[in-house]
Amino acid sequence: MTSILILNGPNLNLLGTRQPDVYGKTTLADVEALCREKAKTLGLDVAFEQSNHEGALIDLIHAAKGKHAAIVLNAGAYTHTSIALMDAIASVELTVVEVHLSNIHAREEFRHRSYIAPVALGQICGFGAQGYLMALDALKAHLKA
Ligand code: DQA
Repeated sequence: MTSILILNGPNLNLLGTRQPDVYGKTTLADVEALCREKAKTLGLDVAFEQSNHEGALIDLIHAAKGKHAAIVLNAGAYTHTSIALMDAIASVELTVVEVHLSNIHAREEFRHRSYIAPVALGQICGFGAQGYLMALDALKAHLKA
C-alpha cells in the first residue's frame, strides 16, 4: 500500500493549548486520528511524526526515501528559516505537500516566506486540521496521475 509520511515540526506537539485563537483547539493526537481515518478511506498507509529539532526532521526526511511515496510537511517556524530542510527535500526528490494550520500569508511578514514552497508540489494553509486531509486527497490524486 502507498505510504505517506506526515511530518510535523517545532511546537506542533503543543497544539490544542498553543495559541488556540490562531491554531485552534485540535490537538496533534486529534490531527493524527483524523489523518489515519482519512487515509483508510483513500487506501493509503500513513506514518505520523513530530520533532522540535531541525536535524531530527532532516533525518526523518532522509529516511523517508524508499519508504514513503510522499510527505505532508508542516515544518512550523522552520518553514521560514531552514535552507537545510529545503535542501533535504530537494536531495531525496520526494513529493512534498506543505501544510499550515494558519494562513501564513495573512500573518506577520516574516511568515510570508517559505523555504519549503519552492521544493513542494503545493502549499495548503489557513484551513486548520482540515489542511492535512486536503493534502492527503491531493497526494492520492497526484500519485495516481
Ligand atoms: C504554522 C505556521 C508557522 O508560521 C508557525 O511558526 C507554526 C505553525 C501553522 O501550522 O500555521 O509553528 O506552521
